[in-house]
Amino acid sequence: MKKRLSIVIVFLFSLSYAFASGDPQKDQCFTCHQTIGDKPSELFKRDVHFQKGISCAACHGGDSKAEDMEKGMDKAAGFKGVPKGDAISEACASCHSNQEKMKQFHSSLPTNQWEFLKTSAHGKLSLTGKEHIAQCTTCHNAHGIVHVKDPASPVFPLNAVKTCTKCHADASFMRSYNPSMSIDQLDKYRTSVHGQRNAKGDSKTAECASCHGSHDIRPAKDVKSKVYATNIPSTCGTCHSNAAYMKEYKIPTDQFEKFSKSVHGKALLQKHDLAAPACNSCHGNHGATPPGITSVSKVCGTCHALNADLFSSSPHKKAFDERKLPECETCHGNHEIIAATEKLLGVSKDAVCSRCHSESQNPKGYVVAKSMRQLIDSLEVTNEKAAKLVEEAEQKGMEVADVKFKLRDAHQARLQSRTMVHSFDQDKFSEVVGKGLGVTSFVDQEAKAALDEYIFRRVGLGVSTLIITILALSLYLYIKRIERNQQKREKNSL
Ligand code: HEC
Ligand code: HEC
Ligand code: HEC
Ligand code: HEC
Ligand code: HEC
Ligand code: HEC
Ligand code: HEC
Ligand code: HEC
Ligand code: HEC
Ligand code: HEC
Ligand code: HEC
Repeated sequence: MKKRLSIVIVFLFSLSYAFASGDPQKDQCFTCHQTIGDKPSELFKRDVHFQKGISCAACHGGDSKAEDMEKGMDKAAGFKGVPKGDAISEACASCHSNQEKMKQFHSSLPTNQWEFLKTSAHGKLSLTGKEHIAQCTTCHNAHGIVHVKDPASPVFPLNAVKTCTKCHADASFMRSYNPSMSIDQLDKYRTSVHGQRNAKGDSKTAECASCHGSHDIRPAKDVKSKVYATNIPSTCGTCHSNAAYMKEYKIPTDQFEKFSKSVHGKALLQKHDLAAPACNSCHGNHGATPPGITSVSKVCGTCHALNADLFSSSPHKKAFDERKLPECETCHGNHEIIAATEKLLGVSKDAVCSRCHSESQNPKGYVVAKSMRQLIDSLEVTNEKAAKLVEEAEQKGMEVADVKFKLRDAHQARLQSRTMVHSFDQDKFSEVVGKGLGVTSFVDQEAKAALDEYIFRRVGLGVSTLIITILALSLYLYIKRIERNQQKREKNSL
């Protein structure tokens, strides 16, 4: 019994000694500082660097083997004291930017942090003008550094928000750099699903670094930024398209896939049209919705203002509100919005109106949908017919340029009618289509007149040619007769 106890005591003693002396290399800096009981050495016990056998001297310089303070902390032995400004990051980079050195510690971590940091938004000069805005220790601390996936790390998702917003929510600090930069990211973030879940301890939702990156954070306007419009969908998609990652949340993971096939996605991702929405245009950057928008379902109107105005004063506004149906999404969807065609309109099986209107169900809408469809059809048909006639006249060399130009007004009316659908009002719709029909009927008449004239000219030409031919023929015959008579007379006189 006694023997066993003494073994345990010896074991514990040797363990604590090994710990205290920073085994295997016996870091005298640590040993002495621990006896002083200062904070750096206290924190260092949990430090990843301590666990890798790295000494205080790796960052501060000096001779870690010397038991004597004067000797250990001698400038001649390379002691640097407490590093400041860029000297801090340079000290970290002496290992973290050196692949060979990191390999000696059996580490396969990336070695790009300092390079990235220098070219990032935080790589600008600080207020003193002497060093960069942020150093490695700004986000990782100097002592007690742990793996970034450790919940104690200041960059662990549940702590990152605090780490970033100690600057970004500090009005006077941020204004001294950039007076126009907003400092509302934290307040807004707290209203979003991401922020609310993060505050409750969910480390899987997006925090500042998941959308902006860590070392290569760039201004939002920079095309290489993770939050630049054309990069946003894939930034959000790293989580939202990852079915395994999102499994526990039971929400769809098809937003990116659908979006990239939509009119908006094609315009943004293929044509690089920045007028088209990215995920954040509809969902907001930090808040639950974009600024000034009460609900995501109202966001379409920020770009399609006319459609939204018409919808708001249409009979559907009240009907949809009562049934808690979203406004535009009900007919167009949200992520998979496809080019709107006239097929949507009417009472055929695939027309969107047929979902809710039939002869027995909400029949008034049925009647209107049917009539709107007929109006559109007749505009298309008359437009096509008029265009054909104009073309025919043109080919026959008739002067129809002015009339052809007029056809543009019919096209314009067709475009207006597509928007006017959203009034869901028969009269307003008829008025717009009516204008178009007026144009097509005018063009039709003009083209027909041109063709008539062509025929008239052809007939006229034919008749006159005939008369001339007859005249010429009779003249010929007449001359022939005279000649013959003359010959007769000559013969007779012989
Ligand atoms: C025998 C004890 C002892 C040893 C060995 C020792 N130190 Fe110190 N160190 C001290 C004491 C005591 C102070 C506080 C001195 C003061 O405040 O002037 C100090 C201060 C420091 C400071 C703060 C200096 C400043 O300017 O504020 C740093 C950094 C430091 N030591 C690092 C090291 C490093 C690195 C080593 C090993 C290479 C080391 N020390 C070895 C006892 C020691
Ligand atoms: C990974 C690099 C690194 C290691 C290892 C390290 N330090 Fe530091 N230390 C720093 C940096 C950087 C500062 C500057 C303070 C800051 O930026 O927060 C600092 C500051 C200090 C200071 C000044 C007081 C303070 O807290 O600001 C003391 C004392 C100190 N270190 C002692 C130690 C001792 C003792 C060890 C070993 C037990 C050690 N350091 C290990 C990077 C390191
Ligand atoms: C603006 C804050 C910030 C600064 C400044 C910063 N880091 Fe980081 N760092 C982070 C975040 C956030 C992560 C976590 C990334 C993740 O979880 O993928 C991280 C991750 C790391 C990692 C883990 C591997 C990796 O690259 O993801 C290392 C190593 C690291 N940082 C070292 C450094 C060094 C060295 C510096 C200085 C040159 C530095 N960091 C400066 C925020 C910062
Ligand atoms: C002597 C070389 C050396 C110096 C100097 C150094 N580190 Fe490290 N650092 C390492 C090694 C080795 C690891 C462990 C790597 C591993 O586990 O793959 C590490 C790990 C880290 C990690 C954890 C990364 C992870 O796995 O999540 C961070 C963060 C970090 N260091 C930041 C710093 C900072 C900040 C400084 C400067 C204040 C610094 N390091 C200075 C060598 C160094
Ligand atoms: C869900 C992704 C996401 C999260 C989480 C996020 N941001 Fe942003 N952030 C964005 C987008 C998108 C923009 C704007 C891009 C643009 O203007 O086109 C932005 C813009 C910014 C800007 C530029 C100024 C501005 O407000 O427009 C800063 C600074 C910023 N974010 C900081 C933060 C901070 C700090 C946090 C954490 C509290 C954070 N962000 C969290 C996506 C995010
Ligand atoms: C030391 C304070 C500080 C910390 C910590 C900090 N930032 Fe910054 N950040 C700034 C300052 C200052 C600027 C403005 C630079 C300028 O003048 O453009 C900035 C710029 C930015 C920008 C660019 C804004 C734009 O569109 O121009 C983004 C994005 C950003 N920070 C995100 C973050 C994130 C994410 C974190 C945490 C991982 C973080 N910051 C941590 C101080 C800080
Ligand atoms: C780090 C991973 C991650 C990133 C990056 C991310 N999200 Fe999320 N997001 C989540 C998780 C996890 C949830 C929680 C799901 C839930 O509770 O419904 C969530 C929730 C949401 C919700 C609310 C869904 C609901 O339940 O109604 C929206 C909207 C959303 N995210 C949009 C975005 C957008 C837009 C971006 C890019 C600007 C983005 N997210 C980036 C992980 C992420
Ligand atoms: C044109 C606007 C728009 C764009 C662009 C958009 N969304 Fe949405 N999103 C919506 C609407 C509207 C909803 C339904 C919200 C509601 O009913 O509360 C929604 C719902 C969501 C949800 C909740 C789950 C679901 O699928 O219903 C997530 C997550 C989401 N969007 C992520 C994204 C991501 C990621 C992108 C970019 C790839 C994106 N959204 C692009 C408008 C948009
Ligand atoms: C940031 C501005 C913006 C927002 C927000 C937006 N859109 Fe769009 N939308 C566009 C642009 C730009 C186009 C033209 C894309 C192209 O074809 O080049 C477009 C095209 C369309 C089209 C196809 C038009 C056609 O000619 O066939 C429909 C339908 C549409 N959007 C519906 C919506 C709906 C519904 C919402 C809300 C859920 C919405 N949009 C939100 C900018 C926006
Ligand atoms: C009841 C169904 C319905 C609702 C609700 C609806 N639309 Fe439409 N939308 C249509 C139909 C049908 C068309 C195609 C008309 C055509 O081509 O003749 C269309 C066409 C469009 C177009 C392309 C034509 C144009 O104006 O450029 C856009 C953009 C559009 N809708 C946006 C919206 C927006 C924004 C909302 C919400 C305010 C909305 N729609 C609500 C049925 C609807
Ligand atoms: C999601 C279901 C839904 C869709 C899709 C829908 N409607 Fe409606 N509509 C309604 C409801 C509900 C009412 C109100 C019913 C009522 O009061 O009779 C209504 C009313 C109307 C009215 C007003 C009728 C009146 O009483 O004055 C018109 C006109 C109308 N719809 C046309 C259309 C057209 C055209 C389409 C296709 C582009 C369409 N609707 C698509 C649900 C829908």
